[in-house]
Amino acid sequence: MEKWTRRKFFLSTLAGSVVASSRGLFAGTSKAGSTEAAAIQTKSGARPLIISSANGYAHLDDGMNVLKNGGDTLDAALAVVTKVEDDPNDDSVGYGGLPNEDGVVELDASVMHGPSRRCGAVASITKIKNPSLVAKAVMEKTNHVMIVGEGARKFAEDEGFTPMNLLTERSRIAWLAWKASTSPNWRPGIDSPEWKEKLAMLLDTPEKQAWREHIEQVVKYPITGTINCLAVSANGDVSGTTTTSGLSWKIAGRVGDSPIIGAGLCVDGEIGGAGSTGRGEENIKISGGHTIVEAMRRGASPSDACMEAMKRVARNYKAFPDRLKLFHIQFYAVNRNGEYGGVSLWEKHIDGRPVQYAVHDGTQARLLPTTYLNAGIGGDY
Ligand code: GLY
Repeated sequence: MEKWTRRKFFLSTLAGSVVASSRGLFAGTSKAGSTEAAAIQTKSGARPLIISSANGYAHLDDGMNVLKNGGDTLDAALAVVTKVEDDPNDDSVGYGGLPNEDGVVELDASVMHGPSRRCGAVASITKIKNPSLVAKAVMEKTNHVMIVGEGARKFAEDEGFTPMNLLTERSRIAWLAWKASTSPNWRPGIDSPEWKEKLAMLLDTPEKQAWREHIEQVVKYPITGTINCLAVSANGDVSGTTTTSGLSWKIAGRVGDSPIIGAGLCVDGEIGGAGSTGRGEENIKISGGHTIVEAMRRGASPSDACMEAMKRVARNYKAFPDRLKLFHIQFYAVNRNGEYGGVSLWEKHIDGRPVQYAVHDGTQARLLPTTYLNAGIGGDY
């Protein structure tokens, strides 16, 4: 209790304005779900087609170019997500990802290749910025499906991946700000003129001061960013990948849903594929990817299949329905015909932005609103 009070105190000085505005937004949240009211729309099919979480939007052209040049569906999906893994400004994936509670960036990823019915995954891998490509190497160059931790890093280096420091300066400062929010030992002492001013101390240049709002947000609301991408070729081949730095400030070794085949990613070349972003623990509990693919096998549209999985997530909170507002989770699915859908637990992010996903239908990349189970804002953990 004492610890929680101190944390609250720190956050009220660290992030007062952000917290206040977020509460204001949350006050408008409706508890009533919109499922019954909202039409669940599966978008009509087009091939080739690529679908991803919203953070893939800027790179869908790269994946589509692979497909249009007759390339492989997994290479198309990887062409999208590796750009996000390489981006130091995306702090939910790859290089620049927010670290675990010890300040170490640990990454998870999986791939599934529909045509050859193979898959690969890595979890808690450090120092390698493209875990999706390491997952592909596990699939192609070993007879294993998943390699974790130090074994995964060594495997990657043996296969020619170059190790590097994945912690950017912005992510390092965000981590120190989070540490300071959890313990007075990580803040200047009460005899210091800078008592309570830890973040201001860390943001010691004009360039770093521009990071303040973002850092306050990720300290207050730990993220489970992630990118999922699924690609369908002109002839109906399907593959996918999911990659993430996982839950920020996690306990070292925590693994989310992204590398779990059947949860964060599931592809059946005869049916289609599905993936997820958001709070991985909730997805693992319902084997979301597998649930969605099996629903599509029974004839459900991609959107209906995603909604079925989302209702299973919600059902796990039957005893505490108010707690659903504490997290976010999204599902994405596509079938062999190029029909697709994206479903979220909540309508909006904690900052009020609508939850979206990205699609490229061969003509242009677009951001679309997800169909949501509940109106209002989620993720107020
Ligand atoms: N969905 C990503 C994670 O929970 O790690």
